[in-house]
Amino acid sequence: MKVYRDIRLLRREIGRLKRKGKTVGFVPTMGFLHEGHLSLVRRARKDSDCVVVSIFVNPVQFGPNEDFKEYPRELKKDLALCKRCGVDMVFVPGVRSMYPEGFSTYLNVEGLTEGLCGAKRPRHFRGVTTVVAKLFNIVSPDIAYFGQKDAQQAIVIKRMVKDLALPVKIKVMPIVREKDDLAMSSRNTYLDRDSRKQAASLHKSLKAARELYKKGEKDSKKIISRMRNLILAEKDAEIDYIVIVDPETLMDVKKISGKTLVALAVRIGKTRLIDNVILN
Ligand code: PAJ
Repeated sequence: MKVYRDIRLLRREIGRLKRKGKTVGFVPTMGFLHEGHLSLVRRARKDSDCVVVSIFVNPVQFGPNEDFKEYPRELKKDLALCKRCGVDMVFVPGVRSMYPEGFSTYLNVEGLTEGLCGAKRPRHFRGVTTVVAKLFNIVSPDIAYFGQKDAQQAIVIKRMVKDLALPVKIKVMPIVREKDDLAMSSRNTYLDRDSRKQAASLHKSLKAARELYKKGEKDSKKIISRMRNLILAEKDAEIDYIVIVDPETLMDVKKISGKTLVALAVRIGKTRLIDNVILN
């Protein structure tokens, strides 16, 4: 496994492989890797000749009062995990090479980025699409992997790829969960034991939504109200949003029929967590 910090060197190596007809699978991450990330890596390992992982805590997708500085970083361990999963190349750029002095080109997907997480994090997705487009441009992957955990992010990336005719296929992989069903996230490390217990309410409420729907409830308002009650039973829980939306347009669905996304963001104390399920 090779580790690259330099854009030019990585590009040169990938160019060499591509000229030999090798395919490239790419997993962009912000590091502090867990089984969620590794499930994407394993899938890439199955699909492609060469697997590239990037580790870059992207400053422009964090708001001014968000956790960029505190975001957990553990490069040594990440590299060991990558190696164990058969990764060929890890790209670990510095902030200055991704955002050179005078950087002023941003990419924005309109509409889809305005609701859900975008409502409280207004420049977040602009930062995500900008960095992902740049990473695609550096790595030139045949396939790139994203997690359903960040449902809105995956939808926005797919839109960007389609709109700009980027030559990459996007694969979205299922949510990997902890034993107690909490969706794995690098941010789970912020939770102390008590908050961690309260965080179980996210998944509990999504499960309740699925059960209500299975029993025949189609009214989104009623389902959301049940979810809200379950979450607000926890003393430190503050709901950012609970939505029931079309999984492609993210438009509200009032009466559920067909494939529908139930997504939420909840703050437990200072930690903001997201999770979702798809109703079929
Ligand atoms: P990060 O939060 O590190 O996540 C990297 C990828 O892992 C994302 O596609 C995310 O959806 C996926 N992932 C995280 N937790 C998961 C879980 N429990 N199950 C399945 N997949 C999971 O998302 C980002 O980084 C950044 O926004 C990035 C795309 C790298 C751009 O900076």
